[in-house]
Amino acid sequence: IEAALGDGPLAGRRVLVTSGPTHEPIDPVRYIANRSSGAQGTAVARALAALGAQVVFITGPAEVPPPDGVELVRVESAAQMAAAVQEALPADAGVFAAAVADWRVASASDRKLKKTRDGMPALEFAENPDILKSVAQMDAGRPRLVVGFAAETDDVIAHATAKRARKGCDWILANDVSPDTGIMGGSENAVTLITDKGPETWPRMGKDAVAARLADRIAAALAE
Ligand code: CTP
Ligand code: CA
Repeated sequence: IEAALGDGPLAGRRVLVTSGPTHEPIDPVRYIANRSSGAQGTAVARALAALGAQVVFITGPAEVPPPDGVELVRVESAAQMAAAVQEALPADAGVFAAAVADWRVASASDRKLKKTRDGMPALEFAENPDILKSVAQMDAGRPRLVVGFAAETDDVIAHATAKRARKGCDWILANDVSPDTGIMGGSENAVTLITDKGPETWPRMGKDAVAARLADRIAAALAE
C-alpha cells in the first residue's frame, strides 16, 4: 500500500535485486544448478518494495514465489542474468543476492546428448561473468550503493572482507552456509554486514527480519 501511494523512505528510488540460483544448460533437457532457494533475495525485494522503492527483481529459477509489487524479470542462466541487470540499469542501488553459477558448460549441446551416440560426456567449463563486480566497478552510471552477498563455509568474516575489496562493492552481507547451520533452505539467517567501517554481526533471525533490517540500512544510506 505504501508503494502504491508513493510513500515510504525509498519512494522514488529504483533498486535492482538479483536472486535465486542460475541454471547452466548442458543440453536442451539438462542443466547444472545450485541449492539456492531464492528466499533471502525474495525477502529483500519485498522489504525494499514495502519501503516504497521501485524494485526490479531479476531472478533465476527459485523455489519460492516472487514478491508482489516488483517489476519481475525471470532468467535462467548467469549470462541471461548479466544481460538483464545491464538492461535494468541505471538504479540508485543494487542488491546482488543471486547464487550465480561460477561456471557454465563451455559449449552446451543444442540436441539431447545420447548414451549410445555420445558415450560418457566430458564437460568442459567456462567462467561466467561476475555480475556484481562488473556493476560495482562501472566507470559511469554506477548505482550509489552496491550490495553483495557472500555465502561461505569457513572463515566467514575474513573471506567476505576480502571479497568486498576484490569486487569493489560498498557492502557485503556474509553468511555461514555450513551444512550444520541449517541456513541453506531454512527460514533463518545469521549474517555479518561488512561495510567500510568493518564487520557488524547481526543476531540470528528470520530471513524476513534480515531483509527488513537491510532495507532500513539501504534507505538510510540513500538518504545521506
Ligand atoms: N556474483 C555475481 N556474479 C557471479 C558470481 C557472484 O554477481 N558470476 C555475486 C553474488 O550474487 C554475490 C557475490 O557476487 O553477491 C559473491 O558471490 P560468491 O559466490 O560468494 O563470490 P565469488 O566471487 O563467486 O567467490 P567464490 O569462489 O567464493 O564462489
Ligand atoms: Ca561463486
